[in-house]
Parts: sequence; C-alpha cells; structure tokens
Amino acid sequence: MSTMNIIQVTSEDQLGVEAADFFANFIRNFDGKPNVILPTGFTPLPFYKEIVKRYQNGETYLGNFRYLALDEYLDIPNGDHRSFAAWLGREILDPLNISVDERIVFNSACTNTDAECKRIAQAVKEAGGIDLAIVGIGGNGHIGFNEPGSSFDLEAQRIDLTKETRIANAEYWGCLDKVPRQAITLGIGTLKHANQTLMLATGARKAAALSKTLHGEVCVDVPSTYLQQQGNVTIIADHDALSVKA
Ligand code: GLP
Repeated sequence: MSTMNIIQVTSEDQLGVEAADFFANFIRNFDGKPNVILPTGFTPLPFYKEIVKRYQNGETYLGNFRYLALDEYLDIPNGDHRSFAAWLGREILDPLNISVDERIVFNSACTNTDAECKRIAQAVKEAGGIDLAIVGIGGNGHIGFNEPGSSFDLEAQRIDLTKETRIANAEYWGCLDKVPRQAITLGIGTLKHANQTLMLATGARKAAALSKTLHGEVCVDVPSTYLQQQGNVTIIADHDALSVKA
C-alpha cells in the first residue's frame, strides 16, 4: 500500500508554484547544503521558471544546493547543447549560479561505460547521498532512464533506450533518427536511498504509469513502482495524469 503524499494541481503554472514551494521549504529547512537531483523534460519547466523568478527576486537561498545528475545521453560530446547537462544548465543551474564544481554530472563521451557507472555511483556516495530526488516519469514508468526491466539494485547503468522513449524525446532532437540509442542513468539502487523524493507528472500520457506507480504491483516492469517501498515521497500531478484509477 502506497503512503505517497499526492498534491493535485489544476494547471502547469500551479504545478510550478507547488513544486517551487516544496523546494523552497526543503532548502530553507535543510541544515547545510543538500544534494539535489533535478530532472529534464517538459514537465518540470514551469517549476524551473518559478524558481528562477523567485531567485531573481531576491530569494537567493534557492541556489544553495549541490546538483546531482540523474541521467544523460551517451555518445555525444560533453557540453553538446542537447545534452541533459547543458539543458539543465540553461534552464536552472546557470540562472541560479550553481558553480560547475557543485555539479556532479556524467561524462556523455565516455568509452568505458562500466567505469563511468562506478565513478558516478561513488561520487554520489562521497558527496553524502541524495537528500532530495526530484524526478519525472516516462509514459512506460521509467525514472531517469531506468527503462522497464531495470534491476532495482543497480547503482547506475548504461541502457538501450526503448523506441517509446526515443519517440518521446525526438522533439528535443528534431527527429527520431537523431535521438541517441543509448544513455546512462543513476539506477534505482541509488535512487531508492534518497531521503526524499518529489515526482512531477502532467498529462494523460502519464496516467497509466502513474496509476501503476501508486497502486500496481511493485515490479521491474514498471520501474517507478520502487517508490511504493520508499518513505517520504510526494507527487505533484495534474488531473489528467491522475485520471486512471486503480
Ligand atoms: C526523459 C528523462 C526523464 C524524464 C522524462 C519525462 O526520458 N530521461 O528523466 O522524466 O524524459 O519527460 P517529460 O517531462 O518531457 O514528459
């Protein structure tokens, strides 16, 4: 039985405000500098817009965190403008003046992906673990790039992207053929140790996966179901994403 706290919103703007309130509260109450995972995707954009607006209006404490990367495409140059590191830089990390030293990111051009998985998992541990993981969800229940079938024990992994995920990400790349076929991601084995998790979900495309996240059997076929076994999970979602009942 899930013990997740659900906040239902009526618009993307309201999602941005609710998520920003949650984040601001978390940062304000944290003793020290927390390690925070931030997701890519269209869903968190209103949240980032709201945070940047508040920061620019003087709430500079909002920039008091260390950023941990969730996932990244492989086989693209580091710094490529389509990389998740660059994307998050533009949307939130640069506007909040998070220095490069305070960003733990993947090497998207690595040739030894096993070594890169070990390096990033170790870096997260050495930084002190995840204080807050903010994640989105794929239409197939993926978290980060942990596609269906991903073990809940892996700390990080290289993954072949499913066609569904590549189609969902084609908009960032112009067309499907350009979307990389492989990615690297923090595994559920790392994410499940986050002290707190905030998931953002909007739209009917997420409804089936969100319903399974909340009420389905915990299984690797729906990676997001690992959240049922975790404490301290909050989901901010709109009516469409919550439209499928168990
Ligand atoms: C990608 C990312 C995920 C993200 C998902 C949802 O697949 N790897 O971390 O949750 O997109 O994106 P959107 O918010 O655009 O639906």
